[in-house]
Amino acid sequence: MNNTRKLSRFAPAFMAGVTMLSWAMVADADDTIEIGQDVWIEAGCASCHGSRGQGGTDPDSPAGPSLRTTQLSEDEMFEVIACGRRGVSGMPGWARGAYFEMACYGETPGQVPEDVLLIEAFDADQIDALVAYIFTTFVQD
Ligand code: HEC
Repeated sequence: MNNTRKLSRFAPAFMAGVTMLSWAMVADADDTIEIGQDVWIEAGCASCHGSRGQGGTDPDSPAGPSLRTTQLSEDEMFEVIACGRRGVSGMPGWARGAYFEMACYGETPGQVPEDVLLIEAFDADQIDALVAYIFTTFVQD
């Protein structure tokens, strides 16, 4: 569908961006939200989900849903961000070792499925911080 075509044009740009990342992982509690915000910015989540997580409107990016109105729990959100959504969803997976070393959606780790775009830019601590940032900043009760 449309999203697949848009994604293939779009992916190289943010993949180039995220390879330049390096992280000091000294996360005491006060730093967590800030680390999460840095991940949000560096990953370019806003290009598909909007700068305030309100849902994407950029014509050059697949439109991601609003994160402000998500019904996901924090654990469920971690898994979507880490593993992506399979199929022609347009939502990449961001965790290093997703599917291969880290179990995704209850499957035994070992093989990366073909129908997922994995970017593998972040470790689990960074994605935890990102989820904390999203829940603190965007998600509405
Ligand atoms: C290339 C566009 C794109 C990028 C970049 C992107 N997303 Fe998404 N995201 C999507 C799309 C499209 C969906 C809907 C997938 C579906 O369910 O079919 C989605 C779904 C989600 C969901 C599930 C929401 C729900 O309530 O079901 C979360 C959470 C999410 N994205 C967070 C993020 C975060 C955090 C980042 C940055 C690390 C990010 N996304 C980067 C396109 C993107």
